[in-house]
Amino acid sequence: MQFNLVTPRIIEHLKRIVGEEHVLTSSEDLARYALDEIEERYRSLPEVVVKPRAPEEIAAIMRLANEERIPVTPRGAGTGLSGGAVPIYGGIVLSLERMNQILEIDVDNMMVTVEPGVVLGDMMRAVEAEGLFYPVDVSTLESCHVGGNVAENAGGARAVKYGLTGHWVYGLEIVTPTGEILRLGGKRIKDVTGYNLIQLLVGSEGTLGIITKITFRLTAKPKYVLDLLIPFDSLENAVTQVLEVLLEEINLSAIEFMDSLSIRAVERYLNLRLPHDESEAHLLIQVDGMEEDVVWRTGERVYQKLVRAGAKEVFVADNRLTRERMWRARREIAQALKALYKCVSVEDIVVPRAQIAEAVHYIRQLSYRHRLEVPIYGHIGDGNLHPTPVSNERDEETWIHDLDAFLLEMFRIVCDLGGNLTAEHGVGLKRIKYLPLVMNKAEIALMQAIKRAWDPNGILNPGKAVPLDSVL
Ligand code: MLT
Ligand code: ZN
Repeated sequence: MQFNLVTPRIIEHLKRIVGEEHVLTSSEDLARYALDEIEERYRSLPEVVVKPRAPEEIAAIMRLANEERIPVTPRGAGTGLSGGAVPIYGGIVLSLERMNQILEIDVDNMMVTVEPGVVLGDMMRAVEAEGLFYPVDVSTLESCHVGGNVAENAGGARAVKYGLTGHWVYGLEIVTPTGEILRLGGKRIKDVTGYNLIQLLVGSEGTLGIITKITFRLTAKPKYVLDLLIPFDSLENAVTQVLEVLLEEINLSAIEFMDSLSIRAVERYLNLRLPHDESEAHLLIQVDGMEEDVVWRTGERVYQKLVRAGAKEVFVADNRLTRERMWRARREIAQALKALYKCVSVEDIVVPRAQIAEAVHYIRQLSYRHRLEVPIYGHIGDGNLHPTPVSNERDEETWIHDLDAFLLEMFRIVCDLGGNLTAEHGVGLKRIKYLPLVMNKAEIALMQAIKRAWDPNGILNPGKAVPLDSVL
């Protein structure tokens, strides 16, 4: 890819667009925008960071970048795990952190309209104060931005009942790579006028447009929530039970899984103990609903079933404090592994739910064969697992070699089971070279043609999600 460098003239132009104080060029500032939550070895410095406040400013930046052939990498909170916000070709990082307002909570239409830099947890609390509910519960909810959630189509723990971010996106305002402002969708629940550009934008990883406004649909806030933490002596048994429970219960809002390596890591990191932490696996199940007796009866049935199936015990949380303790342990596993190991690769595979037990079994076998430690945790109710190879012993070169060999085999197994490379973290930078394992040339060429139609000069987040034309 041929791009031009950011010259002092371009920097002056950017300052005129967003104001001098919102253009960063010092090496310390640039270093803060060189990485997201992907591994350190992917670090890459931008030449300049701009922090616009309005879509019109973004449109002017994009027109300039497009004319000058400067790559632009949009950035939310930088919590992404696949390198979507890493400026691999330098150029401009366009940070949306100043666009952080909740613009409207429309109670009658059950919709909220926000700017992309709003923190997910803040939006959830704001709508809950109005008796409404935004259900997509991402592990990093207290830091991630909703714009990033849309760009990556984030999933999280409650997708088993409520779906991914994209299910809730009804309106988008975006700036195209050539600098037009588009307003797509709105508050209409049904609308089939033309191609569904909104859902093309959702999960496009910042490669087709920059999101400047989002309208999310909301639902009613469940009145009762019950969480069950269930330790199992046998990993196989825990995993097999998931399918059985799902076949009988339709009201579960989360079925999460943590193996013993994940539990041990998070206990060390957070300095806490989970009940029966000697167990091979824990399930964390959430039931929610509007009627107390229905929620409790569902919980009771799940409880009875799992105890009959060999669960050691079932710990119940029906209050906020206990619930937060259980969920904190689950949510912080990725952070724990990153803090405790020198080499870490958070993976994000997905298989059809009936293949979950096989997937866990094969990944375990594979980790033994490759002599790699691979904690496995994730959203098992969706068939989405985060096997996370880790190491403290290997040097960089050996790690990259061993990891690649493991991942190639794991992805092949997952594909044979009808699965795929990523369920919620995105292709980003990290998985782009594995795309040909799961997509044929025609499919990749079609994605490239879509990218070219939106971004003829390929300046918006190049090298992410879609292989560059030159690769085929
Ligand atoms: C998780 O399930 O914990 C996430 O996908 C990983 C993260 O966001 O840190
Ligand atoms: Zn996850």
